[in-house]
Parts: sequence; structure tokens; C-alpha cells
Amino acid sequence: MKVGADFVTCDGLLKRVRIGASVQVGSSRVAASRLFLALIIMLMTPACVRLTMAWTDLSASGPTANPPITAGGAATLSVDDWESASAPQVREALQTNVYGVLPDGARTAIENRRVVDAEAFNGAGVYEEFSLSVTADFKGVSREARFIMAVATPANVVGPAPVILMETFCPRWATLPHPDAYRPAGARDMMSGVGGSIATFIFGRYICTPPIEDILNAGYAIATIAPSEFVPDRPEPGLEALRLLSAGHSDEDTRWGAIGAWGWAFSRMVDALEGDSRFDREAMIVWGHSRYGKAALVAAAFDERIDGVISHQSGTGGASLNRQKKGESLAAITDSYPHWFAKTYARYAGREQEMPIDQHHLLALIAPRPVLLGNARRDVWSDPNGAFRAAKGADPIYQLYGVGGLTQDRLKRFNPQADIAFWIRPGTHGVVKEDWPAFLAFLDAHFKDPSS
Ligand code: GCU
Repeated sequence: MKVGADFVTCDGLLKRVRIGASVQVGSSRVAASRLFLALIIMLMTPACVRLTMAWTDLSASGPTANPPITAGGAATLSVDDWESASAPQVREALQTNVYGVLPDGARTAIENRRVVDAEAFNGAGVYEEFSLSVTADFKGVSREARFIMAVATPANVVGPAPVILMETFCPRWATLPHPDAYRPAGARDMMSGVGGSIATFIFGRYICTPPIEDILNAGYAIATIAPSEFVPDRPEPGLEALRLLSAGHSDEDTRWGAIGAWGWAFSRMVDALEGDSRFDREAMIVWGHSRYGKAALVAAAFDERIDGVISHQSGTGGASLNRQKKGESLAAITDSYPHWFAKTYARYAGREQEMPIDQHHLLALIAPRPVLLGNARRDVWSDPNGAFRAAKGADPIYQLYGVGGLTQDRLKRFNPQADIAFWIRPGTHGVVKEDWPAFLAFLDAHFKDPSS
């Protein structure tokens, strides 16, 4: 958090809200903590507001994505060339230069499945919890991790339901709140009380909890994990967990970062659900906001079983180009979050032109599957213009498959039917009232059976 800089992040504020929200109710520390929160807000809100003074240019001006994926346009490449030769090279380059090397093998076991409530969310769905054991293999060395996946299945769907796989900033019992959800001893509901109100005031009403009943009533199942339960989102514990899981990988420079690992965790959710006839294995959609929006793109780029992506405000290391960018620089992100990427990525700070790939390559790997890139006009930190230019750079691969790709020539108008749907609304960084109707319009356009 750099108060007074051109761009600031409210991330530090969220962390402080978390700290403040975790104090014991009734303890003598409550008053002090509230005072502390109030002070922090007074100090930091002007900084967040200052962020909102910048506006994204909607005209899509700016340099084209480089290097182009198909030098002479889509006509110079066949789908077969792309899938058998170019795409594997792009995957390799993204790992060694940005995200780190992903496991070469994986296994997922459902150790327990518990139906917690057959009539949850006012009868809109069934709430259950899966205890998962996941194993990552790196060069023959296997390491295991365990976490819980919470699942809400719509009550009104006949036949397999499409699934929205979510990773959020919040514990799973805040993303899918249920009074009987399993929580570790001492865990609190960070979204209740003053801390929760502040977080939703700043980052939008859906920052933690999506509109569950609307989603279930629209026919979609929701599955969620707390990514920090798998790899903590703090430099030291995060790096430690990443090292332990990738014990067979010896090169420190290309060891995986948390964004890659969280992306890999989305695939483990697919492992657990794809054999269950209640879920549509042709409609597994990953959803993530900001850092988890980056992870959602990585998941889809590396796992073809993922059928669609909603990546909201993913910014640097996500949909936005590294070259000639506005907002968060490569130097800033790798300095603040040393556990998110491979070390190699940080070395391109100030030398972005030398990268053999850029983020449009990541988007191209998702083709021809539908992807929604969510943005906000004043969230210049995440560089909507750079995301639009990346979408344009990836478009030739969508054309190669003969699908629509990007149908806009500027950042507006949202077309939910497009295979690269670019959503931009007024406002700032967060998940707000207007976002979920846009997400559902996109999902309905691509995954709803028109006859249902
Ligand atoms: C910070 C970080 C971004 C990230 C965001 C978030 O602002 O700089 O790269 O996307 O946090 O995850 O909310």
C-alpha cells in the first residue's frame, strides 16, 4: 500500500479488516480493535478513493500484443499445428517464465462426502462437503495435501447441472455460508460484524458470498474451496507449502508459485466432481476474482476439461499484458507477492519486451472455450486496456477454431454471447451488484440448454 502513489491497492485494507474481524467479541480488545479499524479506514479510504480518480480509456488504443501468436494471421496455422506443436510450447514457456512448473501428475481421492443439509439456502439446493486428498507428483516424488470442498447443488434441476467452481478471498464457510458448515476449532465468520460490513462496503456485496439462491435457481451448482487452506496466501508460509508440495522439483527459479498452485487446485475440484452424474462434465466453469481470476485462467489454460472461465479483474499476471501496461507493474507485483509466481518472472521487471510470451498466449490456450474477462472502469490498477489488447492478441486462435472470439472493437459493449466476452462496468475493484447478472448472462448464453 503506497499512499500518495498514482495507483494504490486496497489489498492492505482487506488484510486489516480481516485482522480486526477476528477479535473476540466481548473481549477487552474489541473497543481497541474497532478504534484501530476506524483509524485505518480514515487513513486508507482516501487512498482507495484516490485510486478511483483514474479512468480507463475505453477506446482500446495502445500497442498490439507482442509477440503475435500467429505471425501471418490465423490462416497461416491449422488447428492441428496449434494443438500439437505451438500450444505445448506456449504452455512450457508460460511455466518457465511466469507461473513455475506445474506437477507432472496428480491424483484426487474423495475421503469423505457429507450431506449437511438436503434443503439448504431456503430450499434452493443441497449443501454438502467433500473431504479431498490431492497428490502432486514432481519427477516421481509425490506429496499430498488435504482440504474441504463445499458444494451446493440446485434443487430444481433435472439432469446434470453445470458447475461454477469458485475460489474466493474468504473461507469456504463465508463463500457458501451454512450454520452447520465444518469449520476448524476457533475459526470465525470474518464476514459478520463490522469487519464484514466494511469489506463489502469497499469491495462489493459479493466479494465473499455470491448470490447463492439466484445462482442455484438459475440451475447452476457451486463448488468452492478456500485456496489458502491449500497454499497460504502469505510469502513465507506460502513459499514453504509450495516447496513441500514440489519436493521433486529441484530448480528454485522455476518452482511453482501460488497462482499456478491455486489454478491446479481448480483441476482437483474437477477430478472430484466429473464422475458424479449430478454434475455436467461438459459444463465445468472456473470463477475467480483478482488473484483467483489469475488462477482461473491458468487452470483453464492447462486443463482442457475446464469448459469455461469467468476471470474478473485478474490484472497483472492474469489477463493484462506485461508490455506497455498501465497500473500494477511486473516489478510491483513480484515485489509485493514473492510467493505468487516463479522467480524467473520477477527477473523480467523492466525487461518485459524480452519475454518470449505475454498474457495473450495464456488466453489463447483457452480457445475455443468461452471466457469472460471482467473489468471496472476505475480499476486502472488491474489495467482493463491491457486485458482488452490481450484479448485481441488471443483472438486469432479463436478464429482458427472458427468461433466468434472477441466481437467488440472497444472495451464496451458487453456481448455475453461472445466467446471472449469483455465486461466493463463503472466503479472500482470488487464484486458488486451488477457483476453477477452479467456473469449469469454469459453462463446462460454458453451453457444453458435453450430447450430448458
Ligand atoms: C493486489 C494485487 C493484484 C491482485 C489484487 C487482488 O491489488 O496487486 O495483483 O489482483 O491484490 O487479488 O485483489
